[in-house]
Formats: sequence, structure tokens, C-alpha cells
Amino acid sequence: MSRFDKVAKQWDAKSRRILMAKNTFDEIKKKVSLTKDMKVLDIGAGTGLLLLNFVDKVKHITGIDNSQGMLDVLKEKIANSHINNINLQYFDANEETLHKENYNLVISNMTFHHFVRPENFIKQVYDSLKINGRICIADLETEDGTFHSKENLEGVYHFGFDKKQFLNWLKQANFKNTSIKTIFEIDKDGKKFPVFLAYGEKE
Ligand SMILES: C[S@@+](CC[C@H](N)C(=O)[O-])C[C@H]1O[C@@H](n2cnc3c(N)ncnc32)[C@H](O)[C@@H]1O
Repeated sequence: MSRFDKVAKQWDAKSRRILMAKNTFDEIKKKVSLTKDMKVLDIGAGTGLLLLNFVDKVKHITGIDNSQGMLDVLKEKIANSHINNINLQYFDANEETLHKENYNLVISNMTFHHFVRPENFIKQVYDSLKINGRICIADLETEDGTFHSKENLEGVYHFGFDKKQFLNWLKQANFKNTSIKTIFEIDKDGKKFPVFLAYGEKE
């Protein structure tokens, strides 16, 4: 059982998580016009705090995650709301490979710091996008290692990311019109942790 399996049922109880995911959605909307013909992939979909905002704005959403517990919570929400354009898949980004040229938009919130080699996975995201596809990744900026408590460090491979480095990874993966900016500050135990949104286009 992973750390996320254990906390899945209580995940949404922290209002800052809901607020943060909604903010990421608002910032993505500023970069990408959402249309009814779009296929979206959410990497590390969790309980769907980001993904569910897209339901009535795009054609189809695939949510992938390596916590069955988180996916089960989301599955229940989908069933309760009679949503029929979401498909969920167990997927470990440290082990598996995405389908190629499949999506118009790839999104992710607070997940890439759990990947062993994020720079390699960004290349996979590029390959998974159709031409004109977009990537929008939100995650922690470099932090001092205190964002996660000691008992929650399992599966944390990066204490956030340097924005310049993350942007370079997008460029190295061949993304064009790239940008990265701070979009939010998570207030946790009186400490502020900035979050960035990284953006790029596959031409
Ligand atoms: C901090 S949570 C964020 C969940 C959701 N995106 C949100 O904003 O509420 C990180 C998510 O990434 C998932 N995750 C962590 N490592 C992963 C991996 N290697 N492959 C796929 N998903 C992973 C976790 O199971 C968890 O659901």
C-alpha cells in the first residue's frame, strides 16, 4: 500500500488542495482554449481535484495514477456524478510508457516531484501529444525539504524544481513557445511554498 493509498479517502479534506487545483485550472485556461474536441491526459490525477474541472469543457479525459486508492476515490466521484467522458488507468510513470500521439493537452498538478527522472518523462509527454498539443505542468518550486513531513517522504524524489531547469527540460524535449511562471503559494504550517506552471507547445 503506497502513502497515497493510505491517505486517499481523506485527501480532499484539506481545503488548500482544492483551492490550489482550482487555481491551476484557472491558470491553464489562460494559456489554452479548451474545446469540445480535445482529448486530455492528467498525470497523477489523484482524486481528480484538477481533472474534474475539465469535464464539461473537453471531449475526453484520461486520468492516470499509480495509487489505486486515489483512483478508487475518483472512480466513485465519477459514478456518483454520472460522468461518462473520463477513463482511469493505473499507471506508474517511473516504469511505464505513454501512448504516442494521442492527446491534445497533457496536464498535471503536484506530481512531477514524485518522478525519478522527470526530464525523461517530459520527453514521453511530448511523444504522447498530437501536433499542436500542449503541456501544462504545475508543481513545487525549489523548497528546503520541509514541504513533506519526514514520514511522508516516501516517493519524493525532488524538493521542488528550479524553474529555469524545468523550462530547459521542456525545450530539450522540443517543446516550443515555452514559459514558466509562479502561479500560487501554498500556505503550509505558516510557511509559503511557491508553485509554478510550465507550458509548452508541440508544433
Ligand atoms: C500530490 S498528489 C496530487 C494529486 C492531484 N493531481 C491533485 O492535484 O490533487 C500526487 C499524485 O501523483 C501520484 N503519483 C505519484 N507518483 C506517481 C508515479 N510514479 N506515477 C503515477 N502517479 C504517481 C500519486 O499517487 C498522487 O495521486
